[in-house]
Amino acid sequence: MGSISLQKVHKAFGNTVVIPEVNLEITDNEFVVFVGPSGCGKSTLLRLIAGLEDMTSGTISIDGKDVTREPPARRGLSMVFQSYALYPHMTVYGNIAFPLKMAGMEKSAIDTKVRDAARILNLTDYLERRPGQLSGGQRQRVAIGRAIVREPKAFLFDEPLSNLDAALRGSMRLEISELHHKLQTTMIYVTHDQIEAMTMADKIVVLNAGNVEQVGSPLELYRNPQNLFVAGFIGSPRMNFLQGETARKLGAATIGIRPEHLELSTSEGLWKGEVGVAEHLGSDTFLHIDVAGVGQITARADGEFALRHGETVYLSPVEKQLHRFNDEGRAI
Ligand SMILES: Nc1ncnc2c1ncn2[C@@H]1O[C@H](COP(=O)(O)OP(=O)(O)OP(=O)(O)O)[C@@H](O)[C@H]1O
Ligand SMILES: [Mg+2]
Repeated sequence: MGSISLQKVHKAFGNTVVIPEVNLEITDNEFVVFVGPSGCGKSTLLRLIAGLEDMTSGTISIDGKDVTREPPARRGLSMVFQSYALYPHMTVYGNIAFPLKMAGMEKSAIDTKVRDAARILNLTDYLERRPGQLSGGQRQRVAIGRAIVREPKAFLFDEPLSNLDAALRGSMRLEISELHHKLQTTMIYVTHDQIEAMTMADKIVVLNAGNVEQVGSPLELYRNPQNLFVAGFIGSPRMNFLQGETARKLGAATIGIRPEHLELSTSEGLWKGEVGVAEHLGSDTFLHIDVAGVGQITARADGEFALRHGETVYLSPVEKQLHRFNDEGRAI
């Protein structure tokens, strides 16, 4: 079991309020991602759940039991950090076995658990190596292994992949998702990378300056962002925002249009623009287009779309994909 409930969680460091008030329900076996820009309080919130940081006020419950005053070791959670935090002088086996040894578990039981975890994480061939003899991805798997053997109620990950290169991040992302299916355990995963959030989460919690802006599944947030912050944060490339006369004509203070929701033509359309930079990714082309009286617009085109800098292009937003926001930046 691993349901976690946060009620009126408030955290200040001295006079600085970092988390004004967070209320959140995490159900058993859910994969929850906390996402938001640097400094928004993701790590602080995770550390409060882990018990590594004291709350200023509020209540945290795990499986219905109030753990607000419980020390980290009594909460039954395992945390995995960005920095791996492995013991360099111990082998992989020793690192994974460490928490069990500390708990006084018997040797043969430890051996079974370490080998099970190593098998799940494809580390069996590396058990006798030291961390210095492993790649970044393998080291992170060892850190995950050390968390797995404790059979926690929930795993807490704080940006576990940000030290890895892009290709390895992509494959570790899949491995962690796969691990979640295998272990059927609650996971809370902190990242500032909205792609990680979108690809891994059952439920995304978007944080901004310590406040929860929106909670929802990846597609809910993509389709129905409740405010400008979420609209601008979820989706890549970023949603285009238009204000002034253009927005008023379409009935809002701000109109949001995703780059993939613009139809492009070389002959006709609502807006006439001039192509600026074109980013060719192979599968897609992202065009940065200047539209007189409207502004700079990013549009996604087919990978083969062959328009060059300075050429004319016509754009038409797909009406039913428009996002409308009021003066306060809330979705209408
Ligand atoms: N011990 C502390 N004392 C004072 N302020 C702190 C302390 N720890 C964190 N903060 C502040 O709290 C805010 C949130 O920090 P936190 O580490 O939770 O952000 P984050 O969302 O994890 O950012 P990042 O993506 O950069 O890791 C920041 O403004 C930070 O400076
Ligand atoms: Mg952080």
